[in-house]
Amino acid sequence: MRIADVEEDIDHELVSKEQIDAKIHEMAALASEDYRDKNPLLVAVLKGAVNTLVAFTQAMSIPVQIDFMSLSSYGSGTVSSGEVTVRQDLSADVRGRHILIVEDIVDSGRTLAWLVAELKRRGAASVEVFALLSKPSRREVDVDVKYAGYEIPDEFVVGFGLDFDERYRNLDSIAVPQAVRLPRSASMSFRKGRVTAITRTRTTTVTTATRSPTRSTVAITGTMAKATKRTARYGSPPGCGVPCSWSWLC
Ligand code: IMP
Ligand code: MG
Repeated sequence: MRIADVEEDIDHELVSKEQIDAKIHEMAALASEDYRDKNPLLVAVLKGAVNTLVAFTQAMSIPVQIDFMSLSSYGSGTVSSGEVTVRQDLSADVRGRHILIVEDIVDSGRTLAWLVAELKRRGAASVEVFALLSKPSRREVDVDVKYAGYEIPDEFVVGFGLDFDERYRNLDSIAVPQAVRLPRSASMSFRKGRVTAITRTRTTTVTTATRSPTRSTVAITGTMAKATKRTARYGSPPGCGVPCSWSWLC
């Protein structure tokens, strides 16, 4: 799927198909040199990193093995606690293996930091990371990314595996959605007036927004059925108390 196919939903393209392809080929060439004769195991976290893993392994010039893991992190609202649980584990034994984690995007860095530590704990000979995208301004935990792709601003992006509410994963480039289609109940993170993350919550009845005392996070819950297309974009959500933008389609 291309941006033209979902034009109305997209604000602008951030990283083109050609840029993704060029960066993946550049990094895959480096990794192919580094891992020659090491029989590397490339690990991707489902589902977001699947597109990147496929493109990356195809661009490599050495034989590699691949494996997948499904993880979920718990926290209150949009604030990840860094606690990660394994929903679906690797099928391979990583003991003594040279592991290259292939990631779609590094945001807070919490999931990745956990995964690197976990694979080392399991006895991997080495653990390195390729990440196609990174939002450096969002970083909460330091992670060493040996093969780093594009740094992007603090904006919520979709495409090339990245989703919003399971949509747009099959977009062939990386884009900023024009407005976000909120699930019935969700929390949104804001930074410098832009939506940066959206997370479903279990609460369905509250219709107020509260500002976290520690970070620019506004949790909004409740049914947003009355909002119309792009109303209140760049306004302040009720209870926000700080200048921030919000937008959605219903
Ligand atoms: P972290 O633990 O905060 O670094 O979480 C990173 C994960 O959050 C990524 O692997 C993505 O699955 C997801 N994520 C982070 N930023 C975005 C975004 O802008 N769009 C879609 N998913 C995102
Ligand atoms: Mg991911």
